[in-house]
Amino acid sequence: PLLPLSFDEWEAEARKKLGAGPFGYVHGGAGGGETMEANLSGFRQYQIRPRVCSNVSKRDLGIVLFGQQASVPFLMAPIGVNSIVHPVGELGAARAAANLNVPYVLSNVSTHRMEEVAEVMGHAMRWFQLYPPKNEELMQSFLQRAEKAGFTAIVVTVDSTLLGWRITDLKNRYLPFLEGHGMGNYFSDPVFRDMLKQSPEDNRRDAVLRALDEGNNTCFTWKTLTKVRERTKLPLLLKGLTHPEDALLALEHGADGVIVSNHGGRQLDGAIGTMEALPEVLKTVNGKAPVLLDGGIRRGADIIKALALGATAVQVGRPYMYALAVAGQSGVEYMLQNLIAETELQLAISGNSSVKDLDCSLLRQV
Ligand code: FNR
Repeated sequence: PLLPLSFDEWEAEARKKLGAGPFGYVHGGAGGGETMEANLSGFRQYQIRPRVCSNVSKRDLGIVLFGQQASVPFLMAPIGVNSIVHPVGELGAARAAANLNVPYVLSNVSTHRMEEVAEVMGHAMRWFQLYPPKNEELMQSFLQRAEKAGFTAIVVTVDSTLLGWRITDLKNRYLPFLEGHGMGNYFSDPVFRDMLKQSPEDNRRDAVLRALDEGNNTCFTWKTLTKVRERTKLPLLLKGLTHPEDALLALEHGADGVIVSNHGGRQLDGAIGTMEALPEVLKTVNGKAPVLLDGGIRRGADIIKALALGATAVQVGRPYMYALAVAGQSGVEYMLQNLIAETELQLAISGNSSVKDLDCSLLRQV
C-alpha cells in the first residue's frame, strides 16, 4: 500500500487508524489550541528569497552539535508513550532514526527502557530527555544509566512540571500512563523500585502515580538545574523556554544549549509561537551556545526557515508519531527519508549548498 507523503495525509491516516484516546493525545494542544496555531503561523510569517546561479551541485545537510556530527539538521523530538500508537513503540522510532542517521532524543517517559532503545540503535547518535524528578537519587540514577547506555547529551524539559489543560484528553478520560504506557525507565530503575512500598508488578496504579508525582516537580528552580549540571558530564540542554531572559539564566546555571519550545503547544495556551520567540532568544544568547527550536516543523521549508533565522538545529515531533501509527518503523523511515529529500531540495533550489551557509538574508518577513 502506498504510504502518505504530506503531513496532512499522515495525520488523516493516523486519525483513521487510532482510537479517539491515543489520537487525541498526540494531536491535541492545550486549551483553545492558540499556542499550537502560533507555532504553525510562525513559519508563514517568513518567505524564502531564493538565490540563483550559485552552483548547488554538492549539497550538505550536516551539522555539528557539541562535537557530535549529525548528517541532518534535525532531530527526532523526545516523545513519550510511543506504544499508544504502535506496539513497536520507541524501538520502532529509534531503529528508523538509526537506519537513516537522524539523531534521536529518547523521552524520559518512554514505554521501552533506555537500555533496550540504546541496544537497537548501535552507535547511532542519541540524547536522553529528563523530566527532573524530585528525588535526587532517582535523578542521579537516570543520568548514570543514560550515560552508560551511550546517550551523548541530556535534554532537561522544564515546561511540564504540571500537565497542561488538554480538553480532548479530559473528554476522553485518557491518560496513557494509567493504561500501561510510558513507565519503562521508572519501573526498571533500582532507586525508583526502592522508593515503592510494593513492586510495580504487584501494584501498578500506585507505582504509576508515584512516578508521575516525581515528575510534577513544581519546586524546580535555577538552583535545581545546577544540581543536574553537577551530576553529569554530558552536554546539557534546557528544553521548553521561549523567553530570552530564561535562555540567559539557563546558560548561567550550567546549560550548554537551549531548545526554544512550548511542547508543541500542549502546555501553556495563548502563548508565543516558537518561531516568533526565536529571534529574541538568539539575540540574547548571541552565539554563546547552540539554540535549537521545535514546534510546527512539518516540511523542508520550515527547516530551512528556522535555520536561516539562526537556529542551530530543529526537532520534529508529531510527524513521526503519525508515521509510526500508520506503518510502524517503516512508516517512520519513509517519513524521514522524504523529509531529508525535501530539505535537501529546498536547500539547493533556494541557492545554497550547505545548511551552514544559511542566514536571515534568505528570508523576508511577511
Ligand atoms: C511531546 N513532547 C514531549 N517533550 C518532552 O520533552 N518529553 C516528552 O515526553 C514529550 N512527550 C510528548 C508527547 C506527545 C504525544 C507530543 C506530541 C509531544 C514535546 C515534543 O518534544 C516537542 O516539543 C513537540 O512535539 C514539537 O512540536 P511538533 O513537532 O509536534 O509540532
